[in-house]
Amino acid sequence: MDKNAFNNALLQNILHNIDIGIHVIDENRKTIVYNDAMGRIEGLDPTQVLNRDLLEVFPSLDENSSTLINALTEKKPIFNKAQIYINSKGKKIFTVNTTLPIFIKDKVVGALEIAKDITYVKELSEKLMDLQNELNISAQANKHSNKKKIKKYSFIDIIGEDEKILELKEIAKRASNTSSSVLIYGETGTGKELFAQSIHYGGNRKDKPFIAQNCAAIPETLLEGILFGTEKGGFTGAVAREGIFEQADGGTLLLDEINSMSEALQSKLLRVLQEGYIRRIGGLKDIPIDVRIIATTNEDPLLSIKKGRLRKDLYYRLNVIYLKIPPLRDRKGDIEILSNHFINKYNYILNRNILGIDDRVLEAFYKYSWPGNVRELENVIESAMNCAPLNRKYLEKEDFITNANIFNDSNSLNANVFNLDKPLPYYLEEIERKIILEKLKKNQNNISKTAKELGIKRQTLQHKIKKYFKRAK
Ligand SMILES: Nc1ncnc2c1ncn2[C@@H]1O[C@H](COP(=O)(O)OP(=O)(O)OP(=O)(O)O)[C@@H](O)[C@H]1O
Ligand SMILES: [Mg+2]
Repeated sequence: MDKNAFNNALLQNILHNIDIGIHVIDENRKTIVYNDAMGRIEGLDPTQVLNRDLLEVFPSLDENSSTLINALTEKKPIFNKAQIYINSKGKKIFTVNTTLPIFIKDKVVGALEIAKDITYVKELSEKLMDLQNELNISAQANKHSNKKKIKKYSFIDIIGEDEKILELKEIAKRASNTSSSVLIYGETGTGKELFAQSIHYGGNRKDKPFIAQNCAAIPETLLEGILFGTEKGGFTGAVAREGIFEQADGGTLLLDEINSMSEALQSKLLRVLQEGYIRRIGGLKDIPIDVRIIATTNEDPLLSIKKGRLRKDLYYRLNVIYLKIPPLRDRKGDIEILSNHFINKYNYILNRNILGIDDRVLEAFYKYSWPGNVRELENVIESAMNCAPLNRKYLEKEDFITNANIFNDSNSLNANVFNLDKPLPYYLEEIERKIILEKLKKNQNNISKTAKELGIKRQTLQHKIKKYFKRAK
């Protein structure tokens, strides 16, 4: 096989089938690669562009405004630059472009532009912003009626007796009547939003909006518009729209995953927090705002700073009140309390009457690491309650079919499971139980077959099954 021919065919296939625009010029500014996606973005047929001088094809560009020529002459890359094109149908196309000089050894031999079409994402996000606007307005209108219930948390919803949690609740309660910024750090599912909402709804801003925005889910260029709003005719916005800073005026803005926000936007945010006013993108007016900021992160903020994901100056500004929520595995005492809380919640929803969880399950819960924290615990309980037979009083291991991984550690025959703090029969039974369970599983609960394989009588097996798996409490 001719390797070069293969590579060339592969490259052509990739170029013409991806939906990212690619445009390459050589050192004489002649286009040597121009794929179909780029043609769609710029409204041109590749044949109009290929093998022609760049400025000849794009007469509106010049040496200064062309990013490709800039990359060629300045020998420096330009990352994620927002661009607008008007396509052949007169539609505005929004892209995010990265332009790179191409080096062979130390010599620049060309430049490459990669264009991501974000028009669709932008349209979606605008729709979302409109919907969020409407939601905020209707939430305000329904404030005094019970017609529409939007999930709102308050301090009484934060369950737990763990010392650290109680202390955090105290700090958060005191914080709720101030306007100081709050930084909440905790793994996923530890209750960051729960704390943020409690601070808002438990304090003197409770009658004003609470708006949450995730900073990781949305490209930077859109996020800026969402935060600060856009003015008609502005660079990225076709219509005038207020940003969430304006919408949340007098209330609280929760900025989730602040460490995912670009450095440039972090610095804009800092300026807004220091100066107390915003300016819409493309706008000229300074709009004063009174918004309390609560920011969250699931990475240690000091580590984020070290890795360059969080600006130090913004960190100092946000870190006026700092809440570090411990992961669930570090507050084992709360596992049972939370489990019972969720059992009560789903007893009501599922119309069940479960009293609690079996000790053996609880033991496995203590050993499990709960990477999804309280959210995971809630989901696990909900799913077990759906699986448990109707006469079940205490949730048993077999009810956790969909989350059997929880028991992996505690059920393995490995010695490390055993703390060796119990009498010998306990461990022997534990091993017997595990072997029976595995054989039953293998034989799809066929008792005769399992008994035969284990070399015991059918009645003996039945007796043991009753003992180990059908223990009534
Ligand atoms: N202490 C708690 N008491 C009761 N419910 C809790 C507690 N902590 C978390 N929860 C519940 O767990 C779920 C996850 O909480 P939350 O959304 O606040 O987590 P988060 O830290 O914001 O997670 P993520 O980082 O994934 O956004 C929610 O349903 C919340 O009600
Ligand atoms: Mg959250």
